[in-house]
Amino acid sequence: MTRRRLSVSRARSWRQRWELQQSRLVPSREVRFDWILATLETAVGRRCRALDLGCGTGALAERILRRFPAARVVAIDHDPVLLAVGERGLGDVGGRLTWLDADLRSPTWTRGLPTGRFDAAVSSTALHWLTPGEVGALYRSLARRLRPGGIFLDADFLEFDAASRRLRRIASRLGRARRRARPAVGESWDAFWAAILRDPELTEEVALHRDRYPHAHSGTPTPDLEGHRRLLRRAGFWETELFWSEGRSRILAAVR
Ligand SMILES: C[S@@+](CC[C@H](N)C(=O)[O-])C[C@H]1O[C@@H](n2cnc3c(N)ncnc32)[C@H](O)[C@@H]1O
Repeated sequence: MTRRRLSVSRARSWRQRWELQQSRLVPSREVRFDWILATLETAVGRRCRALDLGCGTGALAERILRRFPAARVVAIDHDPVLLAVGERGLGDVGGRLTWLDADLRSPTWTRGLPTGRFDAAVSSTALHWLTPGEVGALYRSLARRLRPGGIFLDADFLEFDAASRRLRRIASRLGRARRRARPAVGESWDAFWAAILRDPELTEEVALHRDRYPHAHSGTPTPDLEGHRRLLRRAGFWETELFWSEGRSRILAAVR
């Protein structure tokens, strides 16, 4: 039996559903994206060459390429389902977008990258899937592929210091209250995955997805904000600062 290939219209519809689902999880998603784009422009200019780490369906890569018509992005992820949806739905944006299937936990993840150093690396809601050891190794290999003066911008849930128990409780109460005040649009993470894993046009990708992601990522021990800053400094990023923050949802910036 020949397999039906994912159609472009179906891929685009999955990309839209992904956006809604992610906006429900990260209500300030667009604000964060906007900060990243403004920072990129100021730090490395509109013609930058950037990496998008854990790109999913290419949400951040797409925004960079739309806003900066001379920029180029390599979008990296390890999920075959999201990569297929991104690649079919978004294409290569006139040759300026390259998709790369690589595991950021692997010491060889940079092997498939085009040659030369990059001006920037960005990431959105992805690196909390990695343990402190994996993040440290990732930062070390990233430092080798960013040019001196290049910038790294990570928008993610970056945990509070372990000692800040009260502040953490206050922030989670605040987050819950704000979510209640804003009626959620879009479906939940679980509902999205239950639906896409049944798509008959994605059967091969779904089989590989199940193989690569046998467990939920929630519960992965991951560095807190200070842990990220420490790991970045050890890897050779000499300046690291918080650039935007709303509770645990933050953007960490680092200069190579
Ligand atoms: C919540 S999604 C965010 C996707 C995208 N950045 C966005 O904001 O829409 C997290 C992404 O990180 C990717 N990811 C997690 N662990 C990874 C790894 N070890 N290597 C590559 N990608 C990974 C997942 O496959 C997923 O696409």
